[in-house]
Amino acid sequence: MPLSVAHPGLVHLRGAGVSLVIQFSEPMPRVLHWGADLGDLTTQETESLLVSSAPSATHNSTDEPRYFSVLPTEADAWSGTPGFEGRIRQTGAPYFRFELDDVTVGEHSTSFDLSDRAAGCTVKLHYALDPDTGVLAASAVVRRHADATDVLDVHHLTLMLPVPDRAVEVVDFTGKWSRERSPQRTPIGFGTHLRESRRGRSSLDSPYLMMAGTQRFGFRSGEVWAAHVGWSGNQRYLVEQLPEGAGAHRSTLGGGELLLPGEISLSAGETYTAPTVYFSWSERGMDGIADRFHEWLRRRPTHPRAPRPLVLNTWEAVYFDHDLATLLRLTDAAGDIGVERVVLDDGWFLGRRDDGTGLGDWFVDAEVWPEGLTPFVERIRSHGMDFGLWFEPEMVNLTSRLAIEHPDWVLAPPAPGPSIRNQHVLNLAHPDAWQFIFDRIDALVAEYRIDYIKWDHNRELHEASRQDAEGRAGVHAQTQALYRMLDALRAKHPALEIESCASGGGRIDLGILERTDRVWASDCNDPEERQQIQRWTGQLLPPELVGTHVGAAESHTTKRVTSLSFRLITALFGHAGIELDLSAHDARELSEIRAWARLYKEQRALLHSGRVVRADLADEESMFHGVVAEDRREALFAWVRLGTSVPIQSGRIALPGLDPETTYRIELREEIGAPVLHEVAPAWFTAAREGSLVMRGALLARLGLPMPTLQPQQAMLLRLSAI
Ligand code: DGJ
Repeated sequence: MPLSVAHPGLVHLRGAGVSLVIQFSEPMPRVLHWGADLGDLTTQETESLLVSSAPSATHNSTDEPRYFSVLPTEADAWSGTPGFEGRIRQTGAPYFRFELDDVTVGEHSTSFDLSDRAAGCTVKLHYALDPDTGVLAASAVVRRHADATDVLDVHHLTLMLPVPDRAVEVVDFTGKWSRERSPQRTPIGFGTHLRESRRGRSSLDSPYLMMAGTQRFGFRSGEVWAAHVGWSGNQRYLVEQLPEGAGAHRSTLGGGELLLPGEISLSAGETYTAPTVYFSWSERGMDGIADRFHEWLRRRPTHPRAPRPLVLNTWEAVYFDHDLATLLRLTDAAGDIGVERVVLDDGWFLGRRDDGTGLGDWFVDAEVWPEGLTPFVERIRSHGMDFGLWFEPEMVNLTSRLAIEHPDWVLAPPAPGPSIRNQHVLNLAHPDAWQFIFDRIDALVAEYRIDYIKWDHNRELHEASRQDAEGRAGVHAQTQALYRMLDALRAKHPALEIESCASGGGRIDLGILERTDRVWASDCNDPEERQQIQRWTGQLLPPELVGTHVGAAESHTTKRVTSLSFRLITALFGHAGIELDLSAHDARELSEIRAWARLYKEQRALLHSGRVVRADLADEESMFHGVVAEDRREALFAWVRLGTSVPIQSGRIALPGLDPETTYRIELREEIGAPVLHEVAPAWFTAAREGSLVMRGALLARLGLPMPTLQPQQAMLLRLSAI
């Protein structure tokens, strides 16, 4: 394993094919390289690298060459987005001159202690390059000197790395309710491509992962540099290109927390810890980036290791209509299907008959549940299933008892602004509010032995004015208080699993995932939309962290009607579940769903540990994706048709990610419905059905298989195993 080395004047972190080179020059360290592994540099090569990394001094510019420092500011004549902005409140002085005080070099990490003595503060920058995955975690802590007598208002701290001029395009994400993580691709022009989330959560339109890459970089090809901000509150991402470049590079890539005015003010001894920004590089396209993040997430000690239980969520089956007899029938049907966890969604607490009331009053509603949740929970347990319960702890309806008794707990001005879904935000940074909510959840978890919480968050934060702090902006404090609560609940109930949901997939980031076990990708269960949402959610998260449920034939969000097999195949590639009224299905459909439950249990070890592969296809109406086992001895692929397109033949589709030297048996798995074809089935279907289709990985990668053109909104499954 390559070791990080500190030559005199330079630190070279290496891991999993990635290098980060930082020169600890005076006054500020400079980033010379982030990307492909440069190998073990000799002293002479190091010296050459230092010399050759010097940009030219240009006309009408600084007399000395401009480098790109680890925390660029105007002090190094940096005219782009500064790494740090703030001001000393008493004097109004907005300029900072950091100098390198100390460098620490570990085996795979390095820290730089920077200080500005005049401003009375230090910044500790830390870079850790994971040796197994090449994911680089960059973090920063700002600290006021113990003897500082004034106040430092921090405006932002943005962590950036330079990327070379061959990175010419950027892909990031946007979206809306039921259409999260829609990619957008733009050329990197001059100026700043800045994406901000001011919604108090990472959001439905989160940039999610900003990827700069070579021209037309795809899933399987191109060189890509990516950044993700591990934070669940306001945030910003940027790619920036100045005419003068960034040192010897062309552009910069990075991000950080978006701080609202006055959110961070540091007096003597106080600190601000900026969110970790994760950087990843790949020369194998976006799949290479996904691979590194998936592997990095899987290596966390907190990563879920037990088989991911098949879920039934009650939301789309009953909505707010909580009737015990109906729910017991649903539970029995779920048990019969092979479900392993039932989640009671919104509607169980005081006065919650619709989405206009109840939030904040986390007591089981005796009117609807006269015997409490016990009869329901007991029935779930009698089938050997887990029990999950929905909460939306950070929210409040102004008509709730809680809001009436504690109007000052609302995170809003005394006359709150517009409601969203009839609700407002509860100020979790208020110690009493925090304690009340914590105690309620804690008591219910203990009483019903809750295994799983679906933790929802259904509105953006606007005017997050803290009534307990003279109206100061409270998004940062709210995010921290949320983290504290999740941490405290997990510490007290170590077996408890928590799902991050926010109007669907509105809070998916590596900050929330430090304290939760899966995310709800979207409220849209329409498989046509879901194929896209899951494909792109998978750019950061492995399938086992992404909730994927089978919805009704007529989608509740799009009204599109799709076949059961298309819905089942789509929901297979994640942490699978059911989000429908099983009583509305006939015996044939129920037996297909049962077969799917069996298939999920059979395949989940592969699906939840293998590498995600996505083919680059010319036809945008087709998708080919799958999961290949780490040892490449098995794989499960889906061939998907979204709409119609002009080509009659789909042509030979290369199967990505296989071992070229391994020979595979290729089977069609049709127990959850044979695909409806637009044409006559190709000859190899017969062999694949009989189990006699055998091909070497190299041929499957080079020649591929002539895939049939499916009818729109159809999918089929191919299972490969080494022979
Ligand atoms: C929004 C979530 O995304 C849904 O799945 C459901 O839990 C509702 N909230 C309940 O109000």
